[in-house]
Amino acid sequence: MTTPGYRDTPPESWDPEAPVDFAEAEEFLRMCYGDNRKLGSVKPRLAVVRAQIAATGTYVHTPDELAYGARVAWRNSSRCIGRLYWRSLVVLDRRRARTPEEIFALVVRHLCMAGGTAAANREPGAIRPVISVFPQAQPGRPYARIWNEQLIRYAGYRDVNGGVTGDPKAVRFTESMRDLGWRGKGDAFDVLPVAIETPAHGVRLFELPERAVLEVPLAHPDYGWFAELGLRWHAVPAISNMRLTIGGVHYPLAPFNGWYMGTEIGARNLADPDRYNMIPVVARMLGLDTSKPNTLWRDRALVELNRAVLWSFERAGVKITDHHTESDRFLAHIRNETKSGREVPADWSWIVPPMSGGATGVFHRYYHEADERPNFYLDADARALGVHGHRAQLATEPTEQAAARPAATPEAPARVVPLQERRAPAVPAQPPSPADPSRVVPSPTLRPACPVRH
Ligand code: ARG
Repeated sequence: MTTPGYRDTPPESWDPEAPVDFAEAEEFLRMCYGDNRKLGSVKPRLAVVRAQIAATGTYVHTPDELAYGARVAWRNSSRCIGRLYWRSLVVLDRRRARTPEEIFALVVRHLCMAGGTAAANREPGAIRPVISVFPQAQPGRPYARIWNEQLIRYAGYRDVNGGVTGDPKAVRFTESMRDLGWRGKGDAFDVLPVAIETPAHGVRLFELPERAVLEVPLAHPDYGWFAELGLRWHAVPAISNMRLTIGGVHYPLAPFNGWYMGTEIGARNLADPDRYNMIPVVARMLGLDTSKPNTLWRDRALVELNRAVLWSFERAGVKITDHHTESDRFLAHIRNETKSGREVPADWSWIVPPMSGGATGVFHRYYHEADERPNFYLDADARALGVHGHRAQLATEPTEQAAARPAATPEAPARVVPLQERRAPAVPAQPPSPADPSRVVPSPTLRPACPVRH
């Protein structure tokens, strides 16, 4: 099996020096104008695009092309089970943003719109799929990017005895942010700063304001002790280091979000041994026999942890979905697409949920494995930046791709931008009510000695 992006075959690499391939532009534009009759004839558009590429090495999408391209990129994302609603993606055209401050302000607006906390239409928890598309890459020129893998992620701190407080996945990134001057509280759920790099400014760190970070404290419908574990998770998963490619044009800075499927939190982020590793803690609290694997204590703890996630989000009025519902929706999506004469590219190993796989319909079949454009790609250097949070590592790692050019010189000074709006300290300004799920902070005194250290 050699399909790029599936199994061990890396996705096709991107050459940031290369001009746009007209054939790819033409293929996209024919599809776009074929599917959107109101846009008129593609012929004159092709002539314009051909001339633009000849003159500048690239071309500029119209807002309609951009919106359609971004939605189809989601439709083609073979690892995403949630594609039934691909047409509803809200596309924010942010191609005029240049400075880190402008970019950050728009990132905050993105998160507020996605989380339903935007001032205009306050409905916290009504998560909407949103993408913000920042300036496209110009062939051979440096470009702006965000280093974080997601806009909202929790820090991880290694302590003296080798344990970790917070998300172990973020330890190196967190260390780098501290080297750049950021000071976290040192808690298990500290939201990391957003590291924005532009050609003219180097990298700068920004602290997200409270209203941009909707979070849900986790409790269990049946077990009172669960809330005392002090667990929580953020409501909006927003991937920020994948490159959107549409018709041969590349957008390295195009953060996008959907809503969560419970298992992402309950069966991976809080459960994986190399993440928050809560399964043994939950099993102990449930009083399960953990002396041997065949008591299925892991499975039983996993189910209760996942019930807690789904129940807590629902209670807080924050949109989330479960893996059974999402499996059915994905199969409905395949039926819709088949009716429209399209295959659905999909990667079984990502589509099947990480618990109860065989209890969901998506388990019991194979999928069409294809790499179709438009799409989103995680480049090797973007991945490394998301893990390490600095460029030094990139120089020492063999670059698989024709060296995506760093936007700024490595010596460019980093600085933490002071915020007018800092995140609130431990106690929220207004006492949260059940109707206001944002930033409910569980009382620190309720936390047991070491739920998230290991
Ligand atoms: N699995 C990732 C996480 O737990 C998020 C990936 C995107 N998920 C989504 N539902 N759109 O943070």
